[in-house]
Parts: sequence; structure tokens; C-alpha cells
Amino acid sequence: MRVRSSVPLRSVLCLALLLTGSSNASSNFSYFGSYELSPYRTAERLIRNLNLVPQNQEISGEEDFDDDPSQRRLVERKLNLDILGDAGATVPVEQLGHHAGYYRLKRTHAAKMFYFFFESRGKSSDPVVVWLTGGPGCSSELALFYENGPFKIADNMSLIWSDYGWDKASNLIYVDQPTGTGFSYSTDVRDIRFGEKGISDDLYDFLQAFFQEHSGYLKNELYITGESYAGHYVPAVTERVHRGNKEKHGLHLNLKGFAIGNGLTNPGIQYSAYADYAYSTGIIGEKEYKAISKIYPVCELSVKLCGAHGIITCIASLMVCNSIFTSILLLAGDINYYDIRKKCEGSLCYDFSNMEKFLNQKSVRHALGVGDRKFVSCNPLVHGALLADLMKNLEEVIPTLIDEGIELLVYAGEYDLICNWLGNYRWVGSMKWSGNQNFSVAPFVPFTVDQHEAGLLKSSGPLTFLKILNAGHMVPMDQPKAALEMLRRWTTGKLVEEQSSPGLDEAY
Ligand SMILES: *[C@@H]1O[C@H](CO)[C@@H](O)[C@H](O)[C@H]1NC(C)=O
Ligand SMILES: *[C@@H]1O[C@H](CO)[C@@H](O)[C@H](O)[C@H]1NC(C)=O
Ligand SMILES: *[C@@H]1O[C@H](CO)[C@@H](O)[C@H](O)[C@H]1NC(C)=O
Repeated sequence: MRVRSSVPLRSVLCLALLLTGSSNASSNFSYFGSYELSPYRTAERLIRNLNLVPQNQEISGEEDFDDDPSQRRLVERKLNLDILGDAGATVPVEQLGHHAGYYRLKRTHAAKMFYFFFESRGKSSDPVVVWLTGGPGCSSELALFYENGPFKIADNMSLIWSDYGWDKASNLIYVDQPTGTGFSYSTDVRDIRFGEKGISDDLYDFLQAFFQEHSGYLKNELYITGESYAGHYVPAVTERVHRGNKEKHGLHLNLKGFAIGNGLTNPGIQYSAYADYAYSTGIIGEKEYKAISKIYPVCELSVKLCGAHGIITCIASLMVCNSIFTSILLLAGDINYYDIRKKCEGSLCYDFSNMEKFLNQKSVRHALGVGDRKFVSCNPLVHGALLADLMKNLEEVIPTLIDEGIELLVYAGEYDLICNWLGNYRWVGSMKWSGNQNFSVAPFVPFTVDQHEAGLLKSSGPLTFLKILNAGHMVPMDQPKAALEMLRRWTTGKLVEEQSSPGLDEAY
């Protein structure tokens, strides 16, 4: 899920309007001359307006602002939620541990990270799965209530067990992060995060504290998963945990793999796919396709200028590249860019109002221990602070991880535009690692659930790409059963069936 209602993105949209206006005179590229400057100026203005303090990008440092060591950092409470229906659990429902907690972050002045922890409805030996929703700035409760959580919210605010919650095959943690997202907060503005270093340190510190509290789960396998902008978070956090293990910091975490669903990981490559995807699905026609495709070389160049450490250059790059996306949207009308089969209704293109209604009930907030903190699904401030992070290429940390045996699953619902399967397939396929030759010649084989083809899968060694059929951006919402099967098979090493069906042409 990505926030698109914030102040900065309005400027992006304006830019796109101008660019689209100009693209009618499609043979004249001189307008790029003036835009080369204006995204920079716009970026500088944004930084000033949002007080992004870019010269001090990572406030985190290595310090530990431990004001009161006697105070417990992790405060967790057991939830006794009234949930209707059949849990389908192997243990009595009363014994199922559901928890919510706050972790007081180490490398911050006053930040507290909120999380839910649901013990598995299957076996306690099931893996521990961490889920991160994207945005940046959108709460992981979006996934909890609408995608892969243990229960759903009925219109009358009752909770009802979900048959396909990922807690059926894992001990499941939802984290609200970075600071400022969902119920996570700080009373000190210096704690806002501007990039993946601070974000991954915070999550690493949280996981250390979590496993200290729940040391019985240290032997379980650990998987880091997430969606959308978590295409940035998930590789960063996985790299951080792997590094912590190798350097023997803290507790050794039994890290086995990471999964990215419809993620934004390598923007330079993924922006190349927008026009191709939109044209191949008929959202735009040939003339528009040709016009929009002409923006890409400028976008590609801007991504290079942004590099790994840029700030203003990266925000400028975001504006240039995002004009590709917004141009497509302008042509496509009120399309739901998370699912091109649908219309965009509501601020996130779906109606998630029941979640805000549910979580803002006094009784619920009391049960969760969040005081009278108001819950909002997505925080534009968190999003704004990460504008310079958006165009960074997180693929860079992945080859080392998979070459050192950490498994990666990249999956994508076929009807998502914003983080479409094609762009994801392109970065996965072109990634340089020891097995990329073998991966490139591996065939696509059907991913079958209940004798039906639920997806197309391509895999070699630790790397798997899976295109999920009949799903948009939020795969576990659209195909809950297939998504649970995917998780179950992937974490038990059974995703790649031994008999691969022959004769299937590559999907792309
Ligand atoms: C192309 O841009 C130049 C420079 O702004 C301008 O003088 C010229 O008239 C434009 N040509 C067309 C065909 O729009
Ligand atoms: C609320 O809705 C659920 C599902 O529709 C239903 O089972 C339940 O009985 C309802 N509860 C009340 C109090 O109306
Ligand atoms: C690639 O596949 C071949 C043939 O199956 C195998 O022998 C080789 O070890 C694989 N290479 C890597 C790096 O996995």
C-alpha cells in the first residue's frame, strides 16, 4: 500500500500533468530541458517545507539513549478478544496466545514501536513470520484485518476467525513501523526515520527484544515478509539480521528467508515496466505507450544520479520517474492502481474504514494498551520523510543474502499496476548472483492449489518468483487460500513440486 494523498505527492501529480500536457507534442523533447531543473527546485522546496533536515539524514547513529535502564523496554499484554466462528485451531482457543505490545526503541529519544503477536493455530514449532506493510507510513494492521490476519472485522465490529490467516501456519508478528506508523509513535520529532539504516536498526533491536521475551521461539525458523514498500524494508531488515548473526551481536536469530509481495525493490528497473505493463493489459493505447516510454530514459538517468546516497537527486528522480506512473493514471481514468480490474474508491482505492472504526473504539484501545492514541491507516509525515529513500535500490543487498543460503520468495498479483509483476520479474531475473544462469533457464511451472492453477512459479536454489493469478496488489486479500498455501509450502520447502509440468512456455 502506498500513500498518495500527502502534500508532496500532490506536487508530483502537478508535474505529471505538465508532462502529459507536453507529450502531445511528442517529437519535441526540449521540455525536458526545463524539467531537469524544476524537479530539483521542487525537491528543495519540499525538503524545506517538510523540514526534512537532509544534511542529517540518519539521526539514529549508534547511540543508545537509555534514560532509565530500570524501565522495561518491551511491555506486552495478552489479548482476550472475543472472536466469532470456528478457529480451526489444534489447541483450545483460550490457550491461543494473542498479544499486543510496545517496544521502547533503543536508538531513539522516545520512540515506541507497536506490534501484534499471534501464536500459531497450528503447531508452536511453526516458523515465526514477521509481516511489514508498506506505504511508506501505512500500518501493518491493514494486512492483519484485510489480508492474512487471524480474523476479520464484520460490519457490526465483531471479529470473525479467518480460515486463511497466516497464523494457521506460523507464529505471526505484525509491526507498525517506521516510527509514526499506526500505533507506533514518538514524542520527539528527532526520532523520525529518513532511510533504511535507521529503519532496519530499529526492527533488529525490536526482534532482539522480542526473542529475549519469547526465548522459546529462538529455535523456530524466522521469515521476514511484507508487501509493497516493504520491498525496501524486507531486504534491509533481512540484511541487518543476517549481519547481526554473522558478527555475533546479541541473540542469534534463526533467519531462514524473506518474502516480498508486490514490492518496490529496484525502482530503476521497475519504472521501466509501467508503460509495458499498461500497454500489454490495454490500459493505454499504442500512441500513449510510445509517448510515455520516452520519459523512461530520463528517469533511468535520474535514478543513476540518485545512487545509493543521494537526497535531493533522489527526490528529483522520484518526480521524474513518477510522472510515468501518473501519466498512465491520467489516461486510465479512475482505475484502481492496486487492481486494474477495479475502480479506485476511497483514499486508498479500497474501503478500509471498518479498521479505523474498530481500532478507535475506546474498549479496543484499552485492550491494546495504546491509551487514547488515535489510529490512522497511513501517516503522510512518515511517507514524506522517506521521499529520498523511495528511489533507492534495495536489490543491492540481496545477492549476498541468497548466496549465503537465505531464501527469497518474490511474489506478485498479476493485476497490480503500482508494483506490477512485470517490473518485479525483471529485477529478479536480471539480478547478479551465483545462480542467475540457472534461474534464467528454469521454466515457469504451475502453482496448483486444489487442482486449480493459482499461479506460475519459477525457481532455482534459494530464489523463487511466483506470479499469482486473479489477484491485485494485496495478494492475501484477493487469494487468501493460495496465499496461505504459498506461505506454508515455501516455509516447509515444498513450494517447488518435484514433478514440474512440462511444455509450459515462459509467461514472459
Ligand atoms: C520545440 O522546442 C523549441 C524550444 O523550446 C521551440 O522553439 C520549438 O518551436 C518547438 N517545436 C515544436 C514543434 O513544438
Ligand atoms: C455481527 O455480525 C456477524 C457476522 O455477520 C454475526 O455473526 C453476528 O451475530 C453479529 N453480531 C451482532 C451482535 O449483531
Ligand atoms: C546450476 O545447475 C547445475 C545443473 O543442475 C548444477 O550442477 C549447479 O550446481 C547449479 N549452479 C548453482 C550455482 O546453483
